[in-house]
Amino acid sequence: MAQSNVPVSAAADESLSEEFAVPSHVEEVKKQMAEFAEHHAAANRRVVLITSGGTKVPLESRTVRFLDNFSSGRRGASSAEYFLDSGYAVIFLHRHRSLYPYTRLYTGVNLLDSLKFESGEEEPCRVLVDQKELPNILKVLKRYQAVKEAGLLLPVEFNTLSEYLHLLKAAAQALSSIGSKAMFYLAAAVSDFYIPASEMPEHKIQSSNGPLQITMKMVPKMLRPLVKDWAPQAFVISFKLETDPSILLERARRALDTYSHQAVVANVLDTRRGYVVIVTKNSQHELILTDEEVQKEVEIEDKIVSKLSVAHTQFMSQ
Ligand code: PMT
Repeated sequence: MAQSNVPVSAAADESLSEEFAVPSHVEEVKKQMAEFAEHHAAANRRVVLITSGGTKVPLESRTVRFLDNFSSGRRGASSAEYFLDSGYAVIFLHRHRSLYPYTRLYTGVNLLDSLKFESGEEEPCRVLVDQKELPNILKVLKRYQAVKEAGLLLPVEFNTLSEYLHLLKAAAQALSSIGSKAMFYLAAAVSDFYIPASEMPEHKIQSSNGPLQITMKMVPKMLRPLVKDWAPQAFVISFKLETDPSILLERARRALDTYSHQAVVANVLDTRRGYVVIVTKNSQHELILTDEEVQKEVEIEDKIVSKLSVAHTQFMSQ
């Protein structure tokens, strides 16, 4: 088989710039992320970049149909809150309309059902919140406002796979100046396949043409250039999701061997809310929610974040 002399990380980097359109705002966002990271590192704070949510891949240029995945962004959004509670500043790179820190707690609520007019007042009258409809709203609102006022959370949105890939690269480069104070927590479920723009039909695919056959290309893996070139001193955590538990740990170990980063959080689709394994080069550590913890509404992300922030402290002192 013919072999290329181009290093794999350079190849991934090259195919990124050639095959995925660069979003127009990427340089501006990169500057914001760099300023955010430097500001917080100067205040002796660690900075975590969280990726969150799924990606959708269009099948037509004037998109009617696309391929999507299951990810709600809950893992990323709840982890952001626990990182903030642990003293980190957070860059939250998330898919548009996926779950968001703090507001995620009220996603099932119809806002209008939780509001009422103050009685006996002339117009304009005040609107009151029914706290039964929005449990813990006072505590959550206070925390959200404190985080916002302290400038500890920088949200960055992506819509398309191209945006995700370029913004992740920009984030990695922006955080490289703070060295090992940066953590990457890659919880997003990123599509492995896509149709290049040059091979995509412009108009809606016609069902009158019969059954659809599509060929998709592999999306370049971002982990290798991220670890080797863009942010080589950072503490990098990837995630591995499988539906077959019997191959989970082997796949997690393979990812560690391939990319040489610090840890993989391994999870199975059906049990991901209550069970994960944190796999490092020399260890594996199960995190489980007990029935009692589930009853008390403890979240597995609380355990993941506290385990990883301790590991990050050790990493920084090496
Ligand atoms: O959002 P939720 O509904 O709460 O679900 C959370 C989750 C199940 C999505 C999350 O816990 C999880 O497991 N995310 C990773 C899913 C996965 O298996 O990814 P992967 O094997 O395709 O990729 C491995 C790692 O590389 C991931 O950390 C991914 O974010 C990253 N990646 C993948 C491809 C790519 N082109 N670039 C990347 O950065």
